[in-house]
Amino acid sequence: MKRDQWSSNFGFLMAAAGSAVGLGNLWKFPYIAGMNGGGVFLIIYLLLLILLGAPILLTEMAIGRSSRLNAIDACKAIAPKWGFVGGMGVIGAFFILCYYSVIGGWVLKYFFKYIVSSEIKEPEQYFESFTSSVAEPIAWHVIFAAIVVFIVIRGISGGIEKVSKIFLPLLAAFIVLIAVNGMLLPGSFEGVKFILKPDFSHIKSAGDFFGIVLSAMGQVFFSLSLGMGTLITYGSYLSKDSNLMTNSLYIPLFDLIIALAACFAVMPAVFAFGLEPSAGSGLIFKTLPHVFANMKFGRILAVIFFLLVLFAAITSAISLLEVIASYLIDRMNWHRITASVVPAAAFTAIGCLASLSFGKLSHIKIFGSSIFDFLSEFPDKILMPIGGFFLCILAGYIWGMPNFEKEVTSGGKYTFHFKRLTGFLIKIFAPLMIVIIFFASFI
Ligand code: PHE
Repeated sequence: MKRDQWSSNFGFLMAAAGSAVGLGNLWKFPYIAGMNGGGVFLIIYLLLLILLGAPILLTEMAIGRSSRLNAIDACKAIAPKWGFVGGMGVIGAFFILCYYSVIGGWVLKYFFKYIVSSEIKEPEQYFESFTSSVAEPIAWHVIFAAIVVFIVIRGISGGIEKVSKIFLPLLAAFIVLIAVNGMLLPGSFEGVKFILKPDFSHIKSAGDFFGIVLSAMGQVFFSLSLGMGTLITYGSYLSKDSNLMTNSLYIPLFDLIIALAACFAVMPAVFAFGLEPSAGSGLIFKTLPHVFANMKFGRILAVIFFLLVLFAAITSAISLLEVIASYLIDRMNWHRITASVVPAAAFTAIGCLASLSFGKLSHIKIFGSSIFDFLSEFPDKILMPIGGFFLCILAGYIWGMPNFEKEVTSGGKYTFHFKRLTGFLIKIFAPLMIVIIFFASFI
């Protein structure tokens, strides 16, 4: 069977940016920035995005496109013993899907809640009692998973690309609208200041500093979908006519703009209504309902907001499932339908346990964390950085810069801007930074 391809580079860009832009931007970024001192976090994040994110993204795309294979076999094609790097990605993608789909379900629930009722009363209690109940969050999680499977079954150009081309521009337009609306609120200036003004009083020791750097690195990896084989897989469906170098700049730029817009959509409003910016993971579910309740057209804005979070979550989840499906299709010769449905059934089942860990199963701990937290921390803190590290070694030293360059330039067709800098970043800076930050986090 002929391997599917993106119908255009624009289609690929929308799908790759769709993978990058997700709950990580709209749900996680504002609260992580909020908990790590706003502006300071932003500066460190920006530096790591340029110095670690962009080069690793380029590496993943190049590895995928050179072999035109799934994440595991693409790494094997470079060095037969290195399939484990892709393997970690496939496992990581599975772990992420288990809990990502649970949050996707929450977003669906909030979206429908605002369609049927004008506001959410006592949002904190509402959130706690919803997430700790048994059947309802599981039902929404299953619906979310079903949407994701349905799209992946339709394939690359006919499913993932089509959906991303519609969802992503809509998402970008709406988030800007909501951000502008938030900034026009009286008292919102404090929020803008909080995001843009670095407040160094937060950093009292080297440990504090490392803590922020670690959170920023984790966020760069997570937000750009790195180390999970996603960009290797998406890159494998890309034509040789595409310019990888410019793609590796556009995707982080787009991702950054959406993350910033999410901050501007959330923070000014949080300040305008005197709420707590470092509320943590409940920020959009517990804090924003207060904001919407006090805003003109709050209900409509709430519907739009949760709809676009939903779009973002879907386009990311499909990229994760595609990592697994493409492996099962290439290697096991499975039909696309089976290759999508079987792993989806498995992640949905484990996701049910993750959902229950907010209520009935809250007593079960894995290495001291709840099931949900374990599923999210293991890929974030362990698999992504280790995967990123080995990816740099694989590309920089084993594949080697000449092969890397040949792929990036499409055999001499495009110029490899910042070639020497990229080589330095991939061979030395990125692996070193990952090792230092990784071990520092354990100490
Ligand atoms: N980048 C996605 C987000 O920000 C999450 C993701 C991680 C998707 C890894 C694919 C691979 O939500």
